[in-house]
Amino acid sequence: MTQAQLLSRQKVAVIGLGGIGGGMAGQLMLAGKHDVTICTRNPLDVMTFESGERAARLPLNTLADPAGASPVDWVILSTKAHDTGATAPWFARLCNSRTRVAVLQNGVEHEARVQPMCPTAEILPAIVYYNGERIRPDHFRMRRVTDYELAVPAGDLADAFSALLDGTEFRIFKSDDFKTMQWRKLLVNVVANPVTALTRQRLGVLHRDSIKELCLAVLDEAVEVGRAAGARFDENEAQRTLDTVLTYPGDAGTSMYFDCLASKPLEIEALTGAIVAAGKRFQVLTPLNSALLALLKAISDANENTVSSNVSV
Ligand SMILES: NC(=O)c1ccc[n+]([C@@H]2O[C@H](COP(=O)([O-])OP(=O)(O)OC[C@H]3O[C@@H](n4cnc5c(N)ncnc54)[C@H](OP(=O)(O)O)[C@@H]3O)[C@@H](O)[C@H]2O)c1
Repeated sequence: MTQAQLLSRQKVAVIGLGGIGGGMAGQLMLAGKHDVTICTRNPLDVMTFESGERAARLPLNTLADPAGASPVDWVILSTKAHDTGATAPWFARLCNSRTRVAVLQNGVEHEARVQPMCPTAEILPAIVYYNGERIRPDHFRMRRVTDYELAVPAGDLADAFSALLDGTEFRIFKSDDFKTMQWRKLLVNVVANPVTALTRQRLGVLHRDSIKELCLAVLDEAVEVGRAAGARFDENEAQRTLDTVLTYPGDAGTSMYFDCLASKPLEIEALTGAIVAAGKRFQVLTPLNSALLALLKAISDANENTVSSNVSV
């Protein structure tokens, strides 16, 4: 290894080895440019990683106890948003004054969720556009679905993140209007996820006329809130979003649909909850989103209680 390669070699920690963390871990391991530690609740020595035509068995360095972690150059957080708080013990061990943090989660409040756990770190919010799936406990698949896999706000931190991922298959979009991109992704999420989770049906359910009407009304509220929050939406943003969602394969599920079927807690506060909270802040009424939030919170809380009552002590 040359001196330059040694100097650019970074210590990276990926927190959360699910669909998205698995995609990130697989790409970083395939590129082989950095020292990667996976922070997980369930240690795993080897993963099978599929991306496009490639499939590889990759050794992993996993840690299950934060006590064994030490400071790194980059933390990449890829848990569901509602699990963010539970990662505090990892952040306490992984961050020092030079650590940078990329947050690969849905929603719009990435910095607010993460900064309290690492007050001095620079935080890079990222919107994820790849499809990541943990097919089996040791088998992960990543699929490209659009022109780029990650979008981040343009700037020095985005450049550093791009350099970190150099040699991977990730295409990174550096946006000058990240807020609008974040809200556009949120718009898709606040119809596709709640409707599939509540109906326990895949995306094909959105093609029913009555559901289309409901989605449009939910989107109208969300668009008004987004505009108040500073997103620069098009005139016909709600209809445009619905038209986009209707192009998705009808037999595809959403993560909230799968979490609902698996009786897991739902990422509802970071999605619909973000619309309702911002609506209150900007005095925009959100009765439909509030109703969806109340229903899905009840399901999520019941699932959470089931998970905790299944834990043996
Ligand atoms: N999957 C996709 O295609 C996709 C696409 C776009 C955006 N997103 C967004 O990306 C984010 C990540 O989604 P995902 O699909 O990767 O979720 P996921 O498959 O549920 O994976 C999250 C992982 O985080 C782990 N975790 C939770 N708390 C932890 C803790 N305290 N310490 C260590 N690990 C912890 C979980 O571990 P356990 O296995 O032990 O529960 C799980 O493996 C979400 O915000 C999601 O909305 C996902």
